Amino acid sequence: MPDTLTVTDNRTGKTYDVPIENGAVRATAFEQMKAGDDGRGLVVYDPAFLNTASCKSRVTYIDGDNGILLYRGYPIEQLAEHSTYLETAYLLVHGELPTKAQAEEWIHDITIHTLVHENVKTFIDGFHHDAHPMGILLSTVGALSTFYPSATQIYDEETRRISIYRLIAKMPTLAAFAYRHSLGLPYNYPDNDLSFPGNFLNMLFKMVELKYQPVPEVERALDVLFILHADHEQNCSTNAMRSVGSSHPDPYSATAAAIAALYGPLHGGANEAVVRMIDRIGTVDRIPDFIAGVKAGKERLMGFGHRVYKNYDPRAKVIKRMADQVLSATGSTPRLDVARELEKIALEDEYFVSRKLYPNVDFYSGFIYQAIGIPVEMFPVLFAIPRTAGWLSQWEESLLDKEQKISRPRQLYLGEQTRDYVPMERRG
Ligand code: SDX
Repeated sequence: MPDTLTVTDNRTGKTYDVPIENGAVRATAFEQMKAGDDGRGLVVYDPAFLNTASCKSRVTYIDGDNGILLYRGYPIEQLAEHSTYLETAYLLVHGELPTKAQAEEWIHDITIHTLVHENVKTFIDGFHHDAHPMGILLSTVGALSTFYPSATQIYDEETRRISIYRLIAKMPTLAAFAYRHSLGLPYNYPDNDLSFPGNFLNMLFKMVELKYQPVPEVERALDVLFILHADHEQNCSTNAMRSVGSSHPDPYSATAAAIAALYGPLHGGANEAVVRMIDRIGTVDRIPDFIAGVKAGKERLMGFGHRVYKNYDPRAKVIKRMADQVLSATGSTPRLDVARELEKIALEDEYFVSRKLYPNVDFYSGFIYQAIGIPVEMFPVLFAIPRTAGWLSQWEESLLDKEQKISRPRQLYLGEQTRDYVPMERRG
């Protein structure tokens, strides 16, 4: 059987054979299907891209029905067990796991770019003490574009390379500065002797000791969380990165747009929203009332559901195991007791089962962050730090894709037809 779709336009009786490639048909194939005398062909309508591919990609693969997530073909479970975040970032950006020499060069090139211009501290000092750190992060990442004007040379490979180093390296520094600012504490500078997660902990928590010593278990837990959050194919913020990137600004400006998209509670802001939801529920005995509110459409069960996963999010499984481990050492908390009971009830309740609502990556991550001592408002920031590698991988892939051009969707216009201007005295 040929790989084609035969479409009959019943308005004209005409039949069209549309090629099927990679399990898809091109939307532009429908432009030829015209009926009216306006000469307009059919447009494919798909609000929120429920079933529309915006690109071809080789970075990340998700099988939502079977709970599979692959970075460049490697299962997320194996990377979480054996890899580090920086190695995973190399894999996402370059497409292959690094050799020893490549890994050493990559780590060196990122480590020597962890500092930010001293003027950036002035920007951060200008924010209120209670400014949300995601607002600070997206502002300062955007501001970085003014320190590297040459970054607009996005088709110069060397320029792209150093922009990628800088963004991956400086995200933790900006995030830690935002945190320290909120507490009125002095900024900690990077310690290049430490690992990527270890240095982040150093910039967050170092006080007056001469050298910060990260707790190895905490350092590893953070590294695994960074691996799990590094990329996730065409999610909302990656779509923002590609769409904004398609007009060819510098990558700092495109990344600021991606951070803004991630900030939303339906996306990367969900990990913060989960803990605030749990706090609102308060105790296990109040879960039934909350669930009733969800069914009545008054609430959303934050940390549950996913556009692609109609099975358990594989990342959530890893994070849940980590939460159990980390909290078995530090002792469970009332919040985690409520979370566990909430998950148990939701997984048995027909309302959630019928809608295939399972815990996603955001449901348990916050409990680990809290155990590490990271405040709730910083949770989306800890999502943005590792996702930078994914955003940049997708951004570069889009730039080098000969089929891509500036993103400019069509619309179905249902507004007023042409009408004449009405003078003020004749209105109303
Ligand atoms: C991330 O895309 C990615 O890959 C994202 C991400 C990544 O790594 O980049 O995985 C990270 O963003 C994870 C998702 C974090 N967000 C949340 O946890 C917020 C709560 N979840 C939802 O708002 C929702 O599930 C979404 C946004 C995640 C997905 O929404 P969809 O695919 O647009 O689904 P929908 O809103 O159309 O819901 C389908 C039905 C609706 O019911 P009906 O109108 O048919 O009766 O399911 C219901 C929704 O009301 N529903 C929920 C629900 N999620 C969906 N009802 C209660 N609680 C929920 N959490």
